[in-house]
Amino acid sequence: LQQEALEKIEQSQELKQLNDVRVAYLGKKGPITEVLKGMGKLSAEERPKMGALANEVRDAIASAIESKQQVLETAAIEKQLQEETIDVTLPGRPVQVGSHHPLTSLIEEIEDLFISMGYKVEEGPEVEKDYYNFEALNLPKGHPARDMQDSFYITEDILLRTHTSPVQARTMERHGGKGPVKIICPGKVYRRDNDDATHSHQFMQIEGLVVDENIRMSDLKGTLNVFAKKMFGEDREIRLRPSFFPFTEPSVEMDISCKICGGVGCSVCKKTGWIEILGAGMVHPNVLEKAGFDSKKYTGFAFGMGPERIAMLKYGIDDIRHFYTNDERFLMQFGQKE
Ligand code: PHE
Repeated sequence: LQQEALEKIEQSQELKQLNDVRVAYLGKKGPITEVLKGMGKLSAEERPKMGALANEVRDAIASAIESKQQVLETAAIEKQLQEETIDVTLPGRPVQVGSHHPLTSLIEEIEDLFISMGYKVEEGPEVEKDYYNFEALNLPKGHPARDMQDSFYITEDILLRTHTSPVQARTMERHGGKGPVKIICPGKVYRRDNDDATHSHQFMQIEGLVVDENIRMSDLKGTLNVFAKKMFGEDREIRLRPSFFPFTEPSVEMDISCKICGGVGCSVCKKTGWIEILGAGMVHPNVLEKAGFDSKKYTGFAFGMGPERIAMLKYGIDDIRHFYTNDERFLMQFGQKE
């Protein structure tokens, strides 16, 4: 019996099989239990001999099972380790991460440039009072130039701002007639336009304003020159053309030289060699006075530009709607910079 059990133990390949052997030989219905149960029928001399023998066999089987069990358990762990091994040297799968919107990146770039020249960033409400959007900027009710900026009115006196210039009016007013004021104001603006490749009913602007004693047109020109060269390359020239804005006098428009055709004339610069970038001028005395500044003591310059237009020129984007339709194929081209 012992021999037979030991063989079966030896042959067991799995813990389950080994357990079956244990039940068969050492279990309540196994042969050894049977022998021990039948002891009562034996004579007084036979009993201890038989008992000793049965115990011996049982112990031998039990210890064989135990050592086999250890062998099988170790093997099972080995097998599991083998199967679950992870090769930590395998390269990971690339994780798709989002990136800044191209306009956000560009606006941050422009902000950084002006911050480095001592400007502060100011923001204002998109839902604006008619007063700050127009009146304070020398555009009284009925002024024909209000038509330049077809507006979304909410009530008679409240509208979606048509430009970021109301932020300059608000900031000047807060300064209580004391300079210097040196700010740029990025933000969304709204106009009643039919959307097409170059128009959008909602777009971005960045406004710049400097007010202090002795601010001159040459300061404006120098500032715009630095901006144009940092933004588009040191080899760009700028030129200022006379223009009109109710809130600046004199008013100008700034062009940069066309690098694509080198001034010979191409479709980007409409064969003129120059590309229009922004509007600017010397702050109108009426605007200074309305905001509480003494226009005999203080002068200032202001400029306003459209980041979409700048991004379109910088990156060769041909349709303003790309900025607002969230096509990943477009956005992914302006991937993470960090
Ligand atoms: N607010 C003007 C516009 O929206 C731009 C501008 C700003 C012009 C400041 C001159 C000075 O067209």
